[in-house]
Amino acid sequence: MGEKSTNIVWHHATITRELREKLNNHKGAILWFTGLSGSGKSTLAHAVEDRLYNMGIRTFVLDGDNVRHGLCSDLGFSDADRTENIRRIGELAKLFLEAGIVVLTAFISPFRQDRELARSVAPHGDFYELFCDAPLEVCESRDVKGLYAKARAGVIPQFTGISSPYEEPEAPELHVDTGGTSLEECVDQVIELLRTRGVIGS
Ligand code: ADX
Repeated sequence: MGEKSTNIVWHHATITRELREKLNNHKGAILWFTGLSGSGKSTLAHAVEDRLYNMGIRTFVLDGDNVRHGLCSDLGFSDADRTENIRRIGELAKLFLEAGIVVLTAFISPFRQDRELARSVAPHGDFYELFCDAPLEVCESRDVKGLYAKARAGVIPQFTGISSPYEEPEAPELHVDTGGTSLEECVDQVIELLRTRGVIGS
């Protein structure tokens, strides 16, 4: 989707991202959790947020199920709507990044190209793709929301993993085995990544 507005001029803030980060005492970053429904994206994102909060890090979680009630309530689950959903979240995450916040996004984001677009709008090195990898059988057996049963019954069309594709990340910053590793261990792995990359202090 191209820009429709014309005659608009970018306003440069005197309070820059660098100044905000200095105030916060940590860097901003986008932690982009991707994976099947039920793979543990939201659970992990919130658990990482809990840990970061206790370390004095400013965070915010953007979650598919919540954002789709508001900002993206006009969108469904066709390929085009998912693309637009992810485009908006990518732009929104970038604003949080500019605010010097560690923003955690938990969306299936099934298409590689859409995730790459979200990556490309952020400055190089500030986008971390975290693949929450749990096999479909595990996600389906959990079926926390009862949606897989409905998708199998044909009640929900275009359901990711059943009747709509999920394209696995090829080179994520972190590959988390959310199907077979404890939540605490997964959180440790994410925190370790943030330390290694200098987002937070050690
Ligand atoms: S995405 O594909 O556009 O990234 P998003 O993460 O926002 O999806 O929303 C996924 C959530 O919507 C799922 O966790 C599930 O609760 C719900 N949902 C409803 N219909 C579908 C569907 N057809 N495919 C996947 N998830 C769906």
